[in-house]
Amino acid sequence: MKTIPTLSTCTPLNDSELADLRDQFPILSRSTASGAPLAFLDNAASTQRPVCVIDAMSDCYQQYYANVHRGIHTLSEESTEAYEQSRKVIASFINAASEREVIFTSGATASINLVARTWGDQNLREGDVILTTIAEHHANIVPWHQLCERTGCRVEFLPLKKDFTFDDETVHQKLRELRPKLFAFTAVSNVLGTITPVKKWVHWARELGITTLVDASQAAPHQPLDVEQLDTDFLVFGGHKMCGPTGIGVLHGKENYLDSMPPFLGGGGMINRVSVDGFETADLPDKFEAGTPPIAEAIGLAAAAKFLRQIGLDRIAAHEKQLAQVADEGLRLIEGIEVIGPSMSHKSGIVSFSIDRVHAHDIAQELDHLGLAVRAGHHCTMPLHRHLKKSSTTRASFYLYNRLEEAHRFLEAVQQVQKKFTPSGRKRSSRPQD
Ligand SMILES: Cc1ncc(COP(=O)(O)O)c(C=O)c1O
Repeated sequence: MKTIPTLSTCTPLNDSELADLRDQFPILSRSTASGAPLAFLDNAASTQRPVCVIDAMSDCYQQYYANVHRGIHTLSEESTEAYEQSRKVIASFINAASEREVIFTSGATASINLVARTWGDQNLREGDVILTTIAEHHANIVPWHQLCERTGCRVEFLPLKKDFTFDDETVHQKLRELRPKLFAFTAVSNVLGTITPVKKWVHWARELGITTLVDASQAAPHQPLDVEQLDTDFLVFGGHKMCGPTGIGVLHGKENYLDSMPPFLGGGGMINRVSVDGFETADLPDKFEAGTPPIAEAIGLAAAAKFLRQIGLDRIAAHEKQLAQVADEGLRLIEGIEVIGPSMSHKSGIVSFSIDRVHAHDIAQELDHLGLAVRAGHHCTMPLHRHLKKSSTTRASFYLYNRLEEAHRFLEAVQQVQKKFTPSGRKRSSRPQD
């Protein structure tokens, strides 16, 4: 079994590596509408793509594209080979036991919906409980609400502590007390950056016979993942947050789970045989990939996974953390600014914050004028924002191509915005406040 190095044992990217790396992302050298050089700090929403990913997809379209699994001609065989090779790359990226456990979907949202509509419909009944956390993205809440509407089960939410982490004792107790059928939680919160102890929580669930689904949307791009070690039943992530294309995501499921589940979408590709009387479902993974799959996108995703691996996920995590630490600790020193998230020892490269009496959208707009792309709003986490008694927050999220200089620029820009909007400044936020 391979061992994953801890962050403290790995060296972050050095300046010349970072310069070479940034050269591979042509978009990073552009300016924003105001003419300021771009600092792209909206990576938790979506990341940029390196040339190798763009080239892999372009090569596919220019050299060998055809539909997969169907044609008996050269192009179709080459496409099929590249598509299935991509599955192997992704299986290796997360250390899956077999590529049969890797299902390509259109994104993390689609992966969760697939589980809800198949395993969920098959296994949940009236009165059953799904346990999740209050920090989930809507993608890991709404499919369960929909499942409740179909079956009469209910969703229970684990609360946050004041320090934006979860109390392990409460988690363990809720698992024992509620005996949920499913424990579905995020590996990293897309707002707070809070890292959950996936291995420990899954282990507790396993001891109680509870099925687990881990939303790794904010983890897979940023840290090494090993589904064998984590022992998750289901784990999902999307391609576009890990330097890959849009329109592709991954559902990893343990083979015994995927085997026992009914197919989701019906159509071409997911059958062995169809007659006027019915159909026979294909084996894994085709069973869950009805219709023409995202072929060039899978190839692009594999290129992205190889690219991240080559740099080293542990080093990427260390680099982002170093930058986020500058932003996080700097913001905490400024009066009138609240960092919405735990201290750096419990979080990833995400730094959410609010400025007293300034609306998040005003902050983001002003930062854009200064060249910084950040996200403002509820970030698809309305229950979390209600829990925090906030209507919106501003989020800076760092990735492998960001520079230390950008973290400092961010801090200076935030102070500039604060000055502009505070009562002594020239302007007040016209938007309603929390
Ligand atoms: C934690 C989390 N889960 C799920 C999603 C949805 O991912 P996708 O766009 O791949 O469907 C996101 C995207 O913002 C996310 O941050």
